[in-house]
Amino acid sequence: MNDLIEEINDLKKRRDAAILAHYYQDGEIQDLADITGDSLKLAREATKVTHSTIVFCGVHFMAETAKILNPDKRVLLPDLQAGCSLAESCPADKLARYQEMLRQNGRRFQTVTYVNSAAAVKALSDWVVTSGNAEAIVRRVPSDCEILFVPDRHLGQYLQEVTGRKMILWDGSCIVHEIFSVGDLLAMKRKLPGSIALAHPECPANIREHSDFIGGTEAMLKHLATYAEPRDFLVATEANMMWQMQSKFPQHRYHPVPGIACACNKCPHMARNTLEKLRDCLALETPEIVWQPTFDRAREVLQRSLLN
Ligand code: 13P
Repeated sequence: MNDLIEEINDLKKRRDAAILAHYYQDGEIQDLADITGDSLKLAREATKVTHSTIVFCGVHFMAETAKILNPDKRVLLPDLQAGCSLAESCPADKLARYQEMLRQNGRRFQTVTYVNSAAAVKALSDWVVTSGNAEAIVRRVPSDCEILFVPDRHLGQYLQEVTGRKMILWDGSCIVHEIFSVGDLLAMKRKLPGSIALAHPECPANIREHSDFIGGTEAMLKHLATYAEPRDFLVATEANMMWQMQSKFPQHRYHPVPGIACACNKCPHMARNTLEKLRDCLALETPEIVWQPTFDRAREVLQRSLLN
């Protein structure tokens, strides 16, 4: 293991590469990364990288976003198959047909798209949001326009609640956040009186309504920073997030909210990236995110939405 880490660090220098890792990656990968963050922070930080290569330890849409915002850089992803159930739920051709149907029915709308989507879907959108800026962007949509929100219906529902804007919701969801068990969450709250439940806005309403704080991964860390004394936190998001929480705020105790059918909530797509694959992708400089025709239009939308 130590040899592997040394090898990665050595290759990183030889390839002039920076490693960016999402909070949902295994702790050992986050530990090696130059930058860790949520989707928004990583997209923004990618534009400040001075190295010629970015190795993105996350899922495909994240690496694709980094490439779109940095066309001149080589962007590598340790496993190209690291996908996303939300992105899969919204194919571009299906969205284009739906938008056309709405237009033919005389509906005036803007499309607000969660960053967990393919570039071709972003290219069909007016805005791209992450959990970190979604509320602010939704508030910027002119009030005489309807909002078509894709693809996460739970995040969309949450945004409707906090902004009061009614939305047309796409029927997508995250396989990790969809399955937290409300029964177990309530049992944990009874067992640990005074505990604080944190839920990602990708969680369904039944989990959100029993949570004390709702926010994306970066917002969760900011929230933890407000507690000096040791507390018990019940965490309803991908389980690797607790590695980051534990590293930054070791005084607290973190308890994963289990899924309905299993004890852990690990994203199988994120888990595709391993230290071995990270080493191999640095050594072989592949798999690489290659520029696609849809990236040009997606770039305009991403720049306007995430960098301003
Ligand atoms: P954030 O990175 O915005 O917390 O969202 C997590 C996520 O959706 C990863 O797929």
